Amino acid sequence: METYRISIKGENSLHGETYVSGGKNTSLAVIPAVILCDEPCTIENLPDIEDIHVLYRILCHLGAKVDYNLEKKRMVIDPSTVNSVTVPYSFSQQMRASYYLMGALFGRFGHAEVGYPGGCAIGSRPIDQHIKGFTILGAEFSEGNGMLCLKGERNGNAVNFDMATVGGTINVMLAACRAKGNTILFNAAREPHVVDVANFLNSMGAKIRGAGTDTIRIKGVNRLHGTSYSVIPDQIETGTLMIAAAATRGDVLIRGCIPTHMEALTAKLLEMGVYVNSVDDCIRVRLNKGHRAIRISTQEYPGFPTDLQQPMSALLTRANGNSEVTENIFDNRFKHLDEMRRMGAKVTISGRVAYIEGVPELRGAPVNACDLRGGAALVIAGLMAKGITQVYNPDFIHRGYERIEDKLRSLGADIRLEACD
Ligand code: EPZ
Repeated sequence: METYRISIKGENSLHGETYVSGGKNTSLAVIPAVILCDEPCTIENLPDIEDIHVLYRILCHLGAKVDYNLEKKRMVIDPSTVNSVTVPYSFSQQMRASYYLMGALFGRFGHAEVGYPGGCAIGSRPIDQHIKGFTILGAEFSEGNGMLCLKGERNGNAVNFDMATVGGTINVMLAACRAKGNTILFNAAREPHVVDVANFLNSMGAKIRGAGTDTIRIKGVNRLHGTSYSVIPDQIETGTLMIAAAATRGDVLIRGCIPTHMEALTAKLLEMGVYVNSVDDCIRVRLNKGHRAIRISTQEYPGFPTDLQQPMSALLTRANGNSEVTENIFDNRFKHLDEMRRMGAKVTISGRVAYIEGVPELRGAPVNACDLRGGAALVIAGLMAKGITQVYNPDFIHRGYERIEDKLRSLGADIRLEACD
């Protein structure tokens, strides 16, 4: 099979305007959530990324009728014909968000058999909190041959998460929508896409209050109706584009985003001396001189997002001074730094902290993407570097960024996807 790489000739500053696609992580929850109702739903503003394509194949496998129009970024899903509760490992291991099929199928049918999820290798990624929530709602959980099985009643109850898990919050919220009685989720995640999924569910007739806070209340209903819904813009793509603009000392206007979702990143960029200005659904980022070193510590929303830690580390390789990056959410999210060292970055890692000493320049090199956001970080480093950078395993990047090469090229980057010789 042909393999590809992203080839970048660095040192072009990014200038001009670009736009943000629909949110990856919200779409990956909203699409499975359609299974909870038994009438057709239309989902708009879907990003054209591989993870969505995998979900499309899973829904078809389950028997749903799906009209997926890539051009129009729209999926019309009729879940009334779903005739299976089994998602084989061959599908589920292709991405992390396949775990949402557990909450959706269990919520609708009281039965789900889903293979272990896959996803970026950024540390141990247990789903014990998801299982804890489902069992508190009345599921009997069993596992075997790589399959996770839920079966039983869905009765409202109180679920207290050990940590503010995004996936766990959304997954248990899905199941609770169709439970008998009321459910309260304590220590719930507050990410923007948790709110977006709750808004989608409420547009189908669910009764969810408090999404966006650490306590979510759900009044179970015995049926949900069809709806039309447009997912929010991607918070992490927005941040990645903001960082790329600063890293190349450019001047970029990013349209179609939600600036209030970007507060933690904006604050850090301002601290570095980057110009950031937001008006309505646009953010302008400009940097035409050096930038200061800073300290970053990833937290659950509204703290600094773990998904932007890796792209930000690329910007920090050329800061004036020594920066510190503490990764508090995942236990192995620094692999991209090994690759950046080959480009001349000066980095030392001690446990959860990466120490980045600013250098005057990076040099292009062949590097390997090891995960989605780490791959994006390597692209940003390539945009900054003197000479040619070749980023291998671009499939990781295409899982979560829609046409990223085209967007960067439209801003002046010398970047293209090419077949490996
Ligand atoms: C979601 O992952 C996102 N993925 C991740 O984005 C994102 O980094 C993460 O949330 C945090 O914002 C999707 O939405 C598909 P968690 P998820 O449950 O649900 C531990 C990207 O690049 N934990 O909030 O896996 C877990 O190990 C991806 O788009 C448990 O211990 O994140 C981690 O340390 C990468 N038990 C922490 O909690 C559980 O049952 C946060 O995980 C669940 C989680």
